[in-house]
Amino acid sequence: MLMKLKVLILFSISAQISRSTIMAYNPPVSSLLLFDFQNVTDLNNWTEQSDTVRSVGKSKATFDLYKTQTKQSAILFTLLNPQSNGACFSGVRTTTQLNLEGYKYISFLCKTAGNATTYKIILRHNNLNDEPNPTYEQKFKVNTDSDTTVKLPISQFDPYYRGKIILDGPTLNVKNITSFGIQVAGGVYENFKQSGLSSLVVDQIWAEPNEDVLSISRQLKHIVRRMLLHLNQLKLAKLFTYS
Ligand SMILES: *[C@@H]1O[C@H](CO)[C@@H](O)[C@H](O)[C@H]1NC(C)=O
Ligand SMILES: *[C@@H]1O[C@H](CO)[C@@H](O)[C@H](O)[C@H]1NC(C)=O
Ligand SMILES: *[C@@H]1O[C@H](CO)[C@@H](O)[C@H](O)[C@H]1NC(C)=O
Ligand SMILES: *[C@@H]1O[C@H](CO)[C@@H](O)[C@H](O)[C@H]1NC(C)=O
Repeated sequence: MLMKLKVLILFSISAQISRSTIMAYNPPVSSLLLFDFQNVTDLNNWTEQSDTVRSVGKSKATFDLYKTQTKQSAILFTLLNPQSNGACFSGVRTTTQLNLEGYKYISFLCKTAGNATTYKIILRHNNLNDEPNPTYEQKFKVNTDSDTTVKLPISQFDPYYRGKIILDGPTLNVKNITSFGIQVAGGVYENFKQSGLSSLVVDQIWAEPNEDVLSISRQLKHIVRRMLLHLNQLKLAKLFTYS
Protein backbone atom coordinates (compact mmCIF):
# COMPACT_ATOMS: atom_id res chain seq x y z
CA MET A 1 0.00 0.00 0.00
CA LEU A 2 2.77 2.38 0.99
CA MET A 3 4.76 1.45 -2.10
CA LYS A 4 1.70 1.98 -4.30
CA LEU A 5 1.13 5.44 -2.83
CA LYS A 6 4.77 6.40 -3.37
CA VAL A 7 4.58 5.29 -6.97
CA LEU A 8 1.38 7.26 -7.49
CA ILE A 9 2.91 10.43 -6.02
CA LEU A 10 6.09 10.08 -8.03
CA PHE A 11 4.04 9.47 -11.17
CA SER A 12 1.97 12.61 -10.75
CA ILE A 13 5.01 14.76 -9.93
CA SER A 14 6.93 13.58 -12.97
CA ALA A 15 3.88 13.96 -15.22
CA GLN A 16 3.48 17.55 -14.06
CA ILE A 17 7.14 18.39 -14.50
CA SER A 18 7.43 16.90 -17.96
CA ARG A 19 4.22 18.58 -19.09
CA SER A 20 5.40 22.04 -17.98
CA THR A 21 8.90 21.62 -19.44
CA ILE A 22 7.50 20.47 -22.78
CA MET A 23 5.19 23.49 -22.89
CA ALA A 24 8.11 25.85 -22.21
CA TYR A 25 10.11 24.12 -24.90
CA ASN A 26 7.38 24.65 -27.49
CA PRO A 27 7.70 26.44 -29.91
CA PRO A 28 11.47 25.88 -30.10
CA VAL A 29 13.40 29.10 -30.47
CA SER A 30 15.74 28.93 -33.45
CA SER A 31 17.27 31.27 -35.99
CA LEU A 32 14.93 33.21 -38.24
CA LEU A 33 15.83 33.64 -41.91
CA LEU A 34 15.17 37.30 -42.70
CA PHE A 35 16.43 37.48 -46.30
CA ASP A 36 17.34 34.53 -48.49
CA PHE A 37 19.11 35.91 -51.54
CA GLN A 38 20.03 32.37 -52.63
CA ASN A 39 16.42 31.68 -53.49
CA VAL A 40 14.68 34.97 -54.40
CA THR A 41 13.57 35.53 -57.96
CA ASP A 42 14.31 39.27 -57.95
CA LEU A 43 15.32 42.19 -55.73
CA ASN A 44 12.41 44.40 -56.75
CA ASN A 45 11.48 44.95 -53.09
CA TRP A 46 14.77 46.80 -52.56
CA THR A 47 15.23 50.43 -53.50
CA GLU A 48 18.27 52.64 -53.66
CA GLN A 49 18.77 55.03 -50.77
CA SER A 50 21.79 57.20 -51.57
CA ASP A 51 22.85 60.78 -50.92
CA THR A 52 21.25 61.77 -54.22
CA VAL A 53 18.01 62.13 -52.22
CA ARG A 54 19.63 65.50 -51.32
CA SER A 55 20.57 68.22 -53.79
CA VAL A 56 24.36 67.97 -53.33
CA GLY A 57 24.57 64.16 -53.45
CA LYS A 58 26.58 62.36 -56.17
CA SER A 59 26.91 58.78 -54.92
CA LYS A 60 25.32 55.65 -56.36
CA ALA A 61 24.25 52.14 -55.33
CA THR A 62 22.85 49.19 -57.23
CA PHE A 63 21.67 45.87 -55.78
CA ASP A 64 21.59 42.88 -58.09
CA LEU A 65 21.27 39.14 -58.09
CA TYR A 66 24.70 37.59 -58.54
CA LYS A 67 24.35 34.19 -60.18
CA THR A 68 27.14 31.76 -60.86
CA GLN A 69 26.84 28.15 -62.14
CA THR A 70 26.76 26.91 -58.53
CA LYS A 71 24.90 29.50 -56.50
CA GLN A 72 23.02 32.77 -56.24
CA SER A 73 23.74 35.71 -53.94
CA ALA A 74 22.94 39.41 -53.84
CA ILE A 75 25.62 41.97 -54.61
CA LEU A 76 25.62 45.62 -53.56
CA PHE A 77 27.76 47.86 -55.78
CA THR A 78 28.47 51.32 -54.38
CA LEU A 79 30.23 54.44 -55.58
CA LEU A 80 30.92 56.96 -52.80
CA ASN A 81 31.42 60.44 -54.14
CA PRO A 82 32.04 62.62 -51.04
CA GLN A 83 31.48 66.31 -50.34
CA SER A 84 34.60 68.19 -49.22
CA ASN A 85 33.81 67.37 -45.56
CA GLY A 86 33.56 63.64 -46.39
CA ALA A 87 29.75 63.53 -46.34
CA CYS A 88 28.24 60.90 -48.64
CA PHE A 89 26.33 57.65 -48.45
CA SER A 90 24.95 55.03 -50.75
CA GLY A 91 22.94 51.90 -50.19
CA VAL A 92 19.64 50.08 -50.50
CA ARG A 93 16.67 49.32 -48.30
CA THR A 94 13.44 47.35 -48.23
CA THR A 95 10.24 47.74 -46.25
CA THR A 96 9.68 44.88 -43.80
CA GLN A 97 7.41 43.70 -41.03
CA LEU A 98 9.76 42.03 -38.59
CA ASN A 99 9.25 41.13 -34.97
CA LEU A 100 12.71 40.35 -33.62
CA GLU A 101 11.70 40.08 -29.97
CA GLY A 102 13.55 37.15 -28.42
CA TYR A 103 16.35 37.35 -30.98
CA LYS A 104 19.76 38.64 -30.02
CA TYR A 105 21.74 39.14 -33.22
CA ILE A 106 21.37 40.02 -36.87
CA SER A 107 23.96 37.87 -38.58
CA PHE A 108 25.28 37.08 -42.04
CA LEU A 109 28.36 36.15 -43.95
CA CYS A 110 29.66 38.59 -46.57
CA LYS A 111 32.43 38.97 -49.09
CA THR A 112 33.71 42.38 -50.11
CA ALA A 113 35.94 43.95 -52.72
CA GLY A 114 36.92 47.55 -53.28
CA ASN A 115 37.57 50.59 -51.19
CA ALA A 116 35.12 50.58 -48.28
CA THR A 117 35.95 48.65 -45.10
CA THR A 118 33.04 49.84 -42.94
CA TYR A 119 29.40 49.23 -43.77
CA LYS A 120 26.16 49.81 -41.84
CA ILE A 121 22.90 48.01 -41.26
CA ILE A 122 20.11 50.57 -40.95
CA LEU A 123 16.75 49.75 -39.37
CA ARG A 124 13.60 51.79 -38.92
CA HIS A 125 10.50 51.00 -36.87
CA ASN A 126 6.76 51.69 -36.41
CA ASN A 127 6.34 52.68 -40.09
CA LEU A 128 8.46 55.78 -39.38
CA ASN A 129 10.44 54.93 -42.50
CA ASP A 130 11.41 58.42 -43.58
CA GLU A 131 12.91 61.65 -42.28
CA PRO A 132 12.80 63.39 -39.89
CA ASN A 133 12.42 60.13 -37.94
CA PRO A 134 15.63 58.56 -36.65
CA THR A 135 17.39 55.61 -38.24
CA TYR A 136 18.73 52.81 -36.06
CA GLU A 137 22.25 52.03 -37.15
CA GLN A 138 25.15 49.75 -36.46
CA LYS A 139 28.49 49.74 -38.26
CA PHE A 140 30.48 46.65 -39.15
CA LYS A 141 34.02 46.24 -40.43
CA VAL A 142 34.67 43.94 -43.38
CA ASN A 143 37.80 41.95 -44.17
CA THR A 144 39.30 42.77 -47.53
CA ASP A 145 41.22 39.50 -47.86
CA SER A 146 38.68 36.95 -46.58
CA ASP A 147 34.96 36.41 -45.90
CA THR A 148 33.52 38.35 -42.97
CA THR A 149 31.11 36.93 -40.41
CA VAL A 150 28.93 39.75 -39.13
CA LYS A 151 27.00 39.36 -35.87
CA LEU A 152 25.30 42.57 -34.72
CA PRO A 153 23.65 42.64 -31.26
CA ILE A 154 20.08 43.82 -31.84
CA SER A 155 20.19 45.76 -28.55
CA GLN A 156 22.99 47.93 -29.95
CA PHE A 157 21.13 49.62 -32.81
CA ASP A 158 21.31 53.25 -31.69
CA PRO A 159 19.20 56.15 -32.99
CA TYR A 160 20.83 58.46 -35.56
CA TYR A 161 19.75 61.47 -37.56
CA ARG A 162 21.62 62.02 -40.83
CA GLY A 163 24.64 60.05 -39.67
CA LYS A 164 24.85 61.69 -36.24
CA ILE A 165 23.99 59.75 -33.09
CA ILE A 166 20.98 61.07 -31.10
CA LEU A 167 21.93 60.88 -27.45
CA ASP A 168 18.91 59.88 -25.34
CA GLY A 169 16.89 59.21 -28.50
CA PRO A 170 14.00 56.73 -28.51
CA THR A 171 15.00 53.06 -28.48
CA LEU A 172 14.33 50.70 -31.36
CA ASN A 173 10.99 48.88 -31.19
CA VAL A 174 12.27 45.41 -32.07
CA LYS A 175 8.69 44.13 -32.37
CA ASN A 176 7.90 46.36 -35.34
CA ILE A 177 10.90 46.77 -37.65
CA THR A 178 9.51 48.24 -40.83
CA SER A 179 12.63 49.04 -42.88
CA PHE A 180 15.94 47.22 -43.34
CA GLY A 181 18.88 48.75 -45.18
CA ILE A 182 22.51 48.14 -46.07
CA GLN A 183 24.69 51.19 -46.55
CA VAL A 184 28.20 52.45 -46.96
CA ALA A 185 29.03 56.02 -45.91
CA GLY A 186 31.83 58.56 -46.15
CA GLY A 187 32.25 58.90 -42.39
CA VAL A 188 31.57 62.61 -41.93
CA TYR A 189 31.21 62.23 -38.13
CA GLU A 190 33.67 59.33 -37.88
CA ASN A 191 37.41 59.01 -37.36
CA PHE A 192 37.69 57.41 -40.80
CA LYS A 193 36.82 58.59 -44.29
CA GLN A 194 35.96 56.38 -47.24
CA SER A 195 35.24 56.91 -50.90
CA GLY A 196 35.23 55.21 -54.26
CA LEU A 197 33.98 51.86 -55.52
CA SER A 198 33.07 48.89 -53.35
CA SER A 199 31.05 45.70 -53.49
CA LEU A 200 29.43 43.50 -50.87
CA VAL A 201 28.18 39.97 -51.57
CA VAL A 202 25.68 38.35 -49.19
CA ASP A 203 23.72 35.07 -49.40
CA GLN A 204 21.36 35.18 -46.45
CA ILE A 205 20.60 37.38 -43.45
CA TRP A 206 19.47 35.79 -40.16
CA ALA A 207 18.12 36.78 -36.78
CA GLU A 208 19.81 34.59 -34.17
CA PRO A 209 18.33 33.75 -30.78
CA ASN A 210 19.87 34.57 -27.46
CA GLU A 211 22.50 31.99 -26.63
CA ASP A 212 21.09 31.90 -23.08
CA VAL A 213 17.71 30.81 -24.44
CA LEU A 214 19.45 28.04 -26.38
CA SER A 215 21.29 26.89 -23.31
CA ILE A 216 18.03 26.94 -21.27
CA SER A 217 16.31 24.79 -23.88
CA ARG A 218 19.29 22.43 -23.82
CA GLN A 219 18.91 22.21 -20.03
CA LEU A 220 15.17 21.57 -20.38
CA LYS A 221 15.84 18.77 -22.86
CA HIS A 222 18.23 17.27 -20.36
CA ILE A 223 15.60 17.45 -17.59
CA VAL A 224 12.94 15.86 -19.82
CA ARG A 225 15.32 13.04 -20.74
CA ARG A 226 15.99 12.41 -17.06
CA MET A 227 12.28 12.46 -16.24
CA LEU A 228 11.58 9.90 -18.97
CA LEU A 229 14.31 7.72 -17.52
CA HIS A 230 12.68 8.04 -14.10
CA LEU A 231 9.31 7.16 -15.58
CA ASN A 232 10.76 3.98 -17.07
CA GLN A 233 12.21 3.07 -13.72
CA LEU A 234 8.88 3.81 -12.07
CA LYS A 235 7.10 1.55 -14.56
CA LEU A 236 9.47 -1.21 -13.52
CA ALA A 237 8.86 -0.36 -9.87
CA LYS A 238 5.12 -0.50 -10.49
CA LEU A 239 5.36 -3.92 -12.11
CA PHE A 240 7.41 -5.01 -9.15
CA THR A 241 4.76 -3.78 -6.67
CA TYR A 242 1.90 -5.55 -8.41
CA SER A 243 3.73 -8.83 -8.93
C1 LIG B 1 17.96 27.85 -51.63
O1 LIG B 1 19.14 27.83 -52.38
C2 LIG B 1 20.12 26.95 -51.88
C3 LIG B 1 21.39 27.16 -52.67
O2 LIG B 1 21.15 27.18 -54.04
C4 LIG B 1 19.60 25.53 -51.99
O3 LIG B 1 20.55 24.63 -51.45
C5 LIG B 1 18.31 25.43 -51.18
O4 LIG B 1 17.75 24.15 -51.36
C6 LIG B 1 17.31 26.47 -51.62
N1 LIG B 1 16.19 26.47 -50.70
C7 LIG B 1 14.94 26.54 -51.11
C8 LIG B 1 13.90 26.57 -50.02
O5 LIG B 1 14.63 26.59 -52.27
C1 LIG C 1 8.48 41.30 -51.71
O1 LIG C 1 7.76 41.70 -50.55
C2 LIG C 1 6.50 41.07 -50.41
C3 LIG C 1 5.80 41.71 -49.24
O2 LIG C 1 6.61 41.71 -48.08
C4 LIG C 1 6.71 39.56 -50.23
O3 LIG C 1 5.48 38.91 -50.10
C5 LIG C 1 7.46 39.03 -51.44
O4 LIG C 1 7.75 37.65 -51.23
C6 LIG C 1 8.75 39.79 -51.67
N1 LIG C 1 9.32 39.34 -52.93
C7 LIG C 1 10.58 38.92 -53.03
C8 LIG C 1 11.02 38.48 -54.36
O5 LIG C 1 11.35 38.91 -52.08
C1 LIG D 1 3.83 48.99 -36.37
O1 LIG D 1 3.70 50.37 -36.08
C2 LIG D 1 2.68 51.04 -36.79
C3 LIG D 1 2.74 52.51 -36.42
O2 LIG D 1 2.62 52.67 -35.04
C4 LIG D 1 1.33 50.42 -36.47
O3 LIG D 1 0.33 51.03 -37.26
C5 LIG D 1 1.39 48.93 -36.78
O4 LIG D 1 0.17 48.34 -36.40
C6 LIG D 1 2.53 48.29 -36.04
N1 LIG D 1 2.60 46.88 -36.44
C7 LIG D 1 2.81 45.91 -35.57
C8 LIG D 1 2.83 44.54 -36.13
O5 LIG D 1 3.00 46.14 -34.37
C1 LIG E 1 40.11 54.54 -51.94
O1 LIG E 1 40.41 54.71 -50.57
C2 LIG E 1 41.67 55.34 -50.35
C3 LIG E 1 41.90 55.34 -48.84
O2 LIG E 1 40.79 55.81 -48.16
C4 LIG E 1 41.67 56.75 -50.93
O3 LIG E 1 42.91 57.35 -50.77
C5 LIG E 1 41.33 56.66 -52.41
O4 LIG E 1 41.18 57.96 -52.94
C6 LIG E 1 40.04 55.89 -52.63
N1 LIG E 1 39.79 55.70 -54.02
C7 LIG E 1 38.83 56.36 -54.64
C8 LIG E 1 38.67 56.04 -56.10
O5 LIG E 1 38.07 57.11 -54.07
